[in-house]
Amino acid sequence: MDIAAVERQFAITSAEAAAIAGRFRAAMAAGLAGEPSTLKMLPSHLGLPAGDERGLFLALDFGGTNVRVQLVELCGHGRWLVRRQIAAPLRDPAGAYDYTAAATSGEQLFAFLADQIAALAADGCDYLLGHTFSFPCRQEDAGHAVLISWTKEISTAGVEGHEVAGLLAAALARRGLARVRPVAVINDTVGTLLAAAYGDPHTDIAAICGTGHNTCYYDAARGTVINMESGNFAALPFTRWDDALDATSERPGAQRLEKMVAGRYLGELARLIAADLGEPVGPPYSLASEAVASWLAGGDGPRRRIAAFVAGRSARLAAATFRGVLAHIDPGLVRRHTIAIDGALYEKMPGYAGALAAALGDHLGEKAAQVTALLAKDGSGAGAAVAAALAATRRGR
Ligand code: BGC
Repeated sequence: MDIAAVERQFAITSAEAAAIAGRFRAAMAAGLAGEPSTLKMLPSHLGLPAGDERGLFLALDFGGTNVRVQLVELCGHGRWLVRRQIAAPLRDPAGAYDYTAAATSGEQLFAFLADQIAALAADGCDYLLGHTFSFPCRQEDAGHAVLISWTKEISTAGVEGHEVAGLLAAALARRGLARVRPVAVINDTVGTLLAAAYGDPHTDIAAICGTGHNTCYYDAARGTVINMESGNFAALPFTRWDDALDATSERPGAQRLEKMVAGRYLGELARLIAADLGEPVGPPYSLASEAVASWLAGGDGPRRRIAAFVAGRSARLAAATFRGVLAHIDPGLVRRHTIAIDGALYEKMPGYAGALAAALGDHLGEKAAQVTALLAKDGSGAGAAVAAALAATRRGR
């Protein structure tokens, strides 16, 4: 096999991209109608902020790599300040603990989260807390969320099927922190959207292109932000490397788009291809997406080329799904839209943001100026604070 033949399989023509966008839009409609769909279309029960929400909130961010707690002040006028913050890895680099492994219980995990919160809430004040929990959850209201299934290769026991705000509240109570009241649980895409919309009223789509991948949007007809769990979309042209990666993952068959787009998997994809092309490589998952970024930055040769087409396809697939969302919410593109994107892949992979913008421009043609995709860095803390403010006052437009 030569590299040009592999590269051709990773190319996505404009016509293929348009077809993917169309299938994505159809999957959205099916999911919303309660018909079988790869898209879960989970209502967050939160609308968009007005931009004048104010107050001091705790924000807990649990996404699968680190846990972060912030004390966020919403100042109104779309502005916020992070007054204090702490972060800790969920897997100890020295191997002393791993809160993401099946050997850990949910109780241990949430006790660890409560410990982190305690470090910022030791001042005796009452706090409302917004919890960014970046996994598919079913929600009856903004304050409660039942984890449907773990993603991103996490397997902590006793959390799937459980209500996470309750698990957190119980852990806080055991820690003597009942003064901290979890009032909102949101997906990280929803946090990114709320934080960006707090300052920019055109923001109605948000995505994470990081360790994981997912997109949400504001559904004006339903008055709520909807977490699509788009990482599970699967009407896609798979190569045999995609199938090989999927077969050895925690959940074969699930999260197929995420396994083609997200940083958790790009390195492994590049490694599988490099191995088939006779390049010396390490064991499974030994290549992080940072390594793919350094392959991209490092001169010529097959590694650079592999990194370029693996990362390029990721950006084009993400753009195709955005096109699908836009077609659903504004078929004639009569309004302006900002797509807020967070995540290390979008922020740091050389050429990624540019490739995504170019692919989006290709989809939109003469209407391209209506849509802006931009980096919304670290919105999840502010987003959780906005969510807590909205949930506490039941406001929002
Ligand atoms: C999760 C989503 C999340 C995304 C980005 C995916 O694995 O299923 O809920 O938004 O990762 O963190």
